[in-house]
Amino acid sequence: MHYADLLIHSAQMMVTMKGFSDNPACGEEMSEVGIVEDGAVAIREGMIVAVGTTAEIRAAGWSGPDTQEISARGKVVTPGFVDPHTHVLYAGSRENELSLKLKGVPYLEILKQGGGILSTVRSTRQASDEEIKAQTRRRLQTMLSLGTTTAEVKSGYGLMVEDELRALRLIRELNDTQVIDLVPTFMGAHAVPTGYSEAEFTNYIVDEMLPVIAAENLAEFCDVFCEPGVFSLESSERILLKAQQLNLKLKMHADELASAGGAELAARLGVVSADHLLQASDQGIEALARQGVIAVLLPATSFNLAKNSYARARDMIRARVPVALATDSNPGSSPTESMPLVLTIACLYLRLTPEEVLAGATINAAHAIGRAKQVGSLEVGKQGDVLILDIPNLNYLPYHFGNNPVETVIKKGKVVWG
Ligand code: NIG
Ligand code: FE
Repeated sequence: MHYADLLIHSAQMMVTMKGFSDNPACGEEMSEVGIVEDGAVAIREGMIVAVGTTAEIRAAGWSGPDTQEISARGKVVTPGFVDPHTHVLYAGSRENELSLKLKGVPYLEILKQGGGILSTVRSTRQASDEEIKAQTRRRLQTMLSLGTTTAEVKSGYGLMVEDELRALRLIRELNDTQVIDLVPTFMGAHAVPTGYSEAEFTNYIVDEMLPVIAAENLAEFCDVFCEPGVFSLESSERILLKAQQLNLKLKMHADELASAGGAELAARLGVVSADHLLQASDQGIEALARQGVIAVLLPATSFNLAKNSYARARDMIRARVPVALATDSNPGSSPTESMPLVLTIACLYLRLTPEEVLAGATINAAHAIGRAKQVGSLEVGKQGDVLILDIPNLNYLPYHFGNNPVETVIKKGKVVWG
């Protein structure tokens, strides 16, 4: 018998999210979170080897003389959070845009004036590799302290091929040199750089950037900011079809600011996830459900843009669209690293239950970035990514907000924070 390296035991409530590694949870399944009272999880060589009640795990003899034991008495144990949509690789910040926002200047108007995303493109291009890495490492460390153990990261503050390649190389380096597992996405189609028309820049992405990006093998996904005034449906489709030919998986920023058929296109292309979706139409929602496209909802962005408009998460769940949640962490529309904050906003304004928000932040989020076989639930054979939350029950997680509920973060069986 091999003993476990780490045993977390006596959890008041352990939430496993088990049973959804093959297909994401949708509809009523999003409430079936797999609660175990007096729960325990055993980890060996970074992988989960046993999950059950403390009595069961003890009876099976997993704890040996060298096993580290952590009591979670009175606390909640969950899988590590998966943040499936971030733009955390950049240099600089945009607090100067706060006053414009408060005056009512729209997000896309700031971009048109050369600010917004284009302002971060300038500060990122000007920064050295070391500066970008140092700033991003700090953000990732904050994310880790707030319970994120796996995250997607997009390029998109470079826009020209050398800058985008640099961004993807830095994401790979950061993946290799800090704790959070990073899934890289190429998002050259984030904004149209000054001096280009949308058509010219789309040609540049399709003919010159994508072949190089794919050949370097630095990205798993390709994403497009599909929005009237940024990349049209036609441009988005051309970019995503080319990416698909080059064996990249697809994502889309769809129907964020205007209802323009983004969700319908996402379904037609069979993307893995369509993100934002505030303005998705009824037909769009039905099409996503039919194709099994995951809706990655970003309620912290709605909150921060202060427009009192949120994605129709309840309609999506009713239609059986699998829903996931993410921070959208970026210097403009969502300057936060906090999944716990996202869960509170999702509960209050997307009207999701505490069970649904947890499904959205773990197993469904893992599906949205192609990692559901490795992470997102506490099941034998998965990575030992576990959170101990200093809260008495699951309702408490979205209820008590603005503080960090995370007491201990375990990544691949090692205590990495707390
Ligand atoms: O998802 N919508 C486009 N991209 C980001 C914002 C990036 C930025 O403002 O820097 C988003 O909201
Ligand atoms: Fe985004």
